[in-house]
Amino acid sequence: MSYKRYTFFGGKGGTGKTTSSSAYALHLARSGARVLAVSTDPAHSLADAFGTKIGSSIVKLEDNLWAIEVDAALEAKKYMEGVQEQMRKVVSPAIVEEIEKQLRVAYVSPGAEESAIFDCFVDLMEKAGSDYDAIVFDTAPTGHTLRLLTLPEVLGAWMEHLLAKRNKAMELFKIAAHYEHDLQEKIANDPVLSLLARRRDRFSRARDLLTNKELTTFHFVLNAEKLAVLETERAVATMNEFAIGIGPLIVNRVLPPETGPFFAHRREQQAQYLAQIEAEFGAYGVVKIPMLDTDIEGKAELEKIAPMLAALDGAD
Ligand SMILES: Nc1ncnc2c1ncn2[C@@H]1O[C@H](COP(=O)(O)OP(=O)(O)OP(=O)(O)O)[C@@H](O)[C@H]1O
Ligand SMILES: [Mg+2]
Repeated sequence: MSYKRYTFFGGKGGTGKTTSSSAYALHLARSGARVLAVSTDPAHSLADAFGTKIGSSIVKLEDNLWAIEVDAALEAKKYMEGVQEQMRKVVSPAIVEEIEKQLRVAYVSPGAEESAIFDCFVDLMEKAGSDYDAIVFDTAPTGHTLRLLTLPEVLGAWMEHLLAKRNKAMELFKIAAHYEHDLQEKIANDPVLSLLARRRDRFSRARDLLTNKELTTFHFVLNAEKLAVLETERAVATMNEFAIGIGPLIVNRVLPPETGPFFAHRREQQAQYLAQIEAEFGAYGVVKIPMLDTDIEGKAELEKIAPMLAALDGAD
């Protein structure tokens, strides 16, 4: 068995990401790996899939299997408080109030939750080396996840820009502070510069992990239907652009023959899309999961499809 340290499941809404990631985590754990299942989808359903309560701190589900649902709002709050704390050390009390006002606005602004989730997820990835053999990520529908995974690239560039600006400002400051020893010292240990540099380093470490094909793989989950195939085409292109490794695709809810004559036409339609999926993405590998006659909730149900996901190991 050869699995990656970080395995992501993503794709269009409702295609079966949570089901597939939970079943795969269960499969790995039962094969003897120490596994952490992580949900980064703000609308969590990992708990439904495993049929048990999970929360924003790591819980043990069974031998070798742990899970966590990252709470975006809570993480955003912690993140902003952390930034505020840092700022208090750096700036004079007079502007703390103004900055806090701005931070309160930033806290509810778009992007804050993503940054916070991202921070949490880099922490988990870096921690995995020692605590777990594998981390399985259940992600939010495509758009959200692509933004999250491409954040290091985009923000990395932005951070470089901020660093360059701060450096320039400090150069001017240095000239002004020529005769003031106190100020010179402050400049030498500029906390804003070191804060920015730390964030930049974090993004670059995240990028290294995400684009390391030995460590990380991304599985698209889709259904054999038009819109899912179209969305997968676009998402695969983005992943390639950002050099994130793609593993076998999972085609979920394939209608088995026993669905009878009523579904005959639909089965034909699925067969056409399956052929298209094979033609376009066959090089990554394709794993099919049949439509079951009930929802897949709880371990007993997950066990039914876990063995089918064994094909994801070492498939590259
Ligand atoms: N092969 C299948 N057979 C029967 N039911 C399934 C199958 N795959 C998924 N389901 C059911 O479909 C529903 C949606 O699946 P799931 O939650 O895994 O999708 P998702 O891609 O994670 O959705 P979201 O985008 O909302 O996160 C769940 O109730 C699940 O139990
Ligand atoms: Mg889900």
